Amino acid sequence: MQIIESPREMHSLCAQWRCENQSIGFVPTMGALHDGHLELCRRARREQDKFVASIFVNPLQFGAGEDLAKYPRPFERDLELLEKSGCDAIFAPSEDIMYGAAQLTHGHAPPGVPTTFVEVSVLGEIWEGVARPGHLRGVATVVAKLFNIVGPTAAYFGEKDYQQLKLIEHMARDLNFFIEVVPVPTVRETDGLALSSRNAYLTSAERAAAPALFRALNCAAKKAKAGERDITVLGQVMQRICEAEPLISVQYITVVDAETLAPLHHLDGTPARALIAARVGKTRLIDNLMLDA
Ligand code: PAJ
Repeated sequence: MQIIESPREMHSLCAQWRCENQSIGFVPTMGALHDGHLELCRRARREQDKFVASIFVNPLQFGAGEDLAKYPRPFERDLELLEKSGCDAIFAPSEDIMYGAAQLTHGHAPPGVPTTFVEVSVLGEIWEGVARPGHLRGVATVVAKLFNIVGPTAAYFGEKDYQQLKLIEHMARDLNFFIEVVPVPTVRETDGLALSSRNAYLTSAERAAAPALFRALNCAAKKAKAGERDITVLGQVMQRICEAEPLISVQYITVVDAETLAPLHHLDGTPARALIAARVGKTRLIDNLMLDA
């Protein structure tokens, strides 16, 4: 397994593989790998000839006062896990290489401040776009850079970050990246809590409260299946389950069109997704589930 820091070197290696007609599966991550990430890795390994992962804690997608400084960085452990998952190459650049002086050949921006961003309108301006200003722009920008550097055949993204997944699908289409964006179902703990690097921040009381998010989503999905069509009712059901946990403070609960993420009023056969964002203690968690009408 090669560990590569230089974008040019990564680009050349992948270009060589493409010349040899090898398909390339790509899994972008911020490290602190758990079984959710590893599920993406297993898919990429199984479905493509070569499998590349990236580890980069992207400062551009963290807001002021968010957890950039304390974001877990167990680099050696991540390398071991990727090696075991059959990874061919890891792209692990420094912040300076991605955004710093090394990037800038001219212009007036100070080092560390990129001058070009990828902004996805509408989809990037709702839900997470409102709750975390600048976050989705940071995600779209770094993923566009990674796509250009690696040039994969297919890139694997978790449904856990549903709006991110849709954003990347739209960006890839709009900017003519000829890359298949592959969605991977959310991997959960046995009590339903979606695996997340941020679960490590939870105290034991918060950890015990957190599965209420999935219980709420699951309850809405069951009610939808049983014939409930009114989104207001489904929203209230989810809100009540979350509010029963004093450690949970809901930021938004909504049911949206699964493609556009626009709010729905009634389930009318349009594929629908329930989304939840909440603070559990100080930790912000998101989760979502398909509603099968
Ligand atoms: P990160 O949070 O490290 O997640 C990397 C990938 O793993 C994302 O596609 C995410 O949706 C997926 N993932 C996380 N938890 C999962 C779970 N429980 N089940 C299935 N997939 C899961 O998302 C990012 O990093 C960054 O925004 C990134 C795309 C790397 C851009 O910086």
